[in-house]
Amino acid sequence: MTGARTGDPPGPPVAEERRAGSLPAVHEGAASADERDGAHGPRVGGDWSVLDRAYAAYLDAHPAPPGGSLLAQTILTGAARRTLYPLLEVEPGAELLDLGTGFGPVVFELAHLHRVRAVGVDIDEAVLDVAGALGDALAGWVREASAVRFAPADVADLPYGAAAFDVVTARLLFQHLPDPEAVVAEIRRVLRPGGRAFVFDVDDGLGVTYPEPSAALTALEGAFAACQSGRGGDRHVGRKLTTYFATAGFDVGPLRLLAQAAHVASEQGDASRSLTVARLLAARSEIVGRGLLAAAEFDAHLDAFVHEPAVARFRAECQLAAVFTNR
Ligand SMILES: C[S@@+](CC[C@H](N)C(=O)[O-])C[C@H]1O[C@@H](n2cnc3c(N)ncnc32)[C@H](O)[C@@H]1O
Repeated sequence: MTGARTGDPPGPPVAEERRAGSLPAVHEGAASADERDGAHGPRVGGDWSVLDRAYAAYLDAHPAPPGGSLLAQTILTGAARRTLYPLLEVEPGAELLDLGTGFGPVVFELAHLHRVRAVGVDIDEAVLDVAGALGDALAGWVREASAVRFAPADVADLPYGAAAFDVVTARLLFQHLPDPEAVVAEIRRVLRPGGRAFVFDVDDGLGVTYPEPSAALTALEGAFAACQSGRGGDRHVGRKLTTYFATAGFDVGPLRLLAQAAHVASEQGDASRSLTVARLLAARSEIVGRGLLAAAEFDAHLDAFVHEPAVARFRAECQLAAVFTNR
């Protein structure tokens, strides 16, 4: 993700948590959802339209938001993300920490489903400013007595004391980390004994496509993945997570593969192709700067991809969702 700036210095302590407020309040939906599902038990489903509208409204008003394509991706992956939450037990009143929170979807959604005190941390302060503003606007939508806040921090050096949290979540973070085992050690430090870590991430080895993507897209995606590896990231991290956490002293399980299969029709200018173009364009200077593709080569491949004729292709991919308990 373009927001990953893993070389940044550690963030300031929690005292500098931000609650910037520049968005209109969005309060509808909360009371009726509480009445429907009961104010004290966990909700099986949520009223997601409020959050979806808040994200979409921000993107409409800011077509080039911080974080490159992250906000569009946050919106597009909402339905799949929400299927993960039944895996994770969250006690009422839990202290929850979301690592690499981005625009905060996991914080908002868990605070809507459960009564929690949740903090989302990220190294990208511009993205966090938006999450903080959205948090103010969504204050009436999260579950009653939940508290949501955001703080800048490097996940390798968390500004929290030992055993401060009951639950730690990390969605699509580990693929960006140059030293994932050091971050697992930090998670263990800030989790209370018996506390749970919920981790969700990719493994590019767990996917197939037919027919194969065009040569132009293959070259662009290869360069994009090489950039991530060049920053120390790992798009095969999914298969490694159980080893990292078990070695650090966690009990492993439950584990799930989130499998998605689709016969996707892609045509010029559609949402999926536009998102891919935006993601690749945001990485253009890094791809060229690292010498992975010459500028002219990048532009020619992108132009070829943008103008590819409509194609329908089968794609299956799996991502790993895992719960680890701190012994
Ligand atoms: C793919 S995004 C995922 C965002 C969010 N978890 C979600 O599910 O939408 C990865 C996030 O991790 C953040 N990140 C990467 N390295 C980090 C680090 N060392 N410390 C804190 N955040 C980091 C990036 O800034 C980015 O916002």
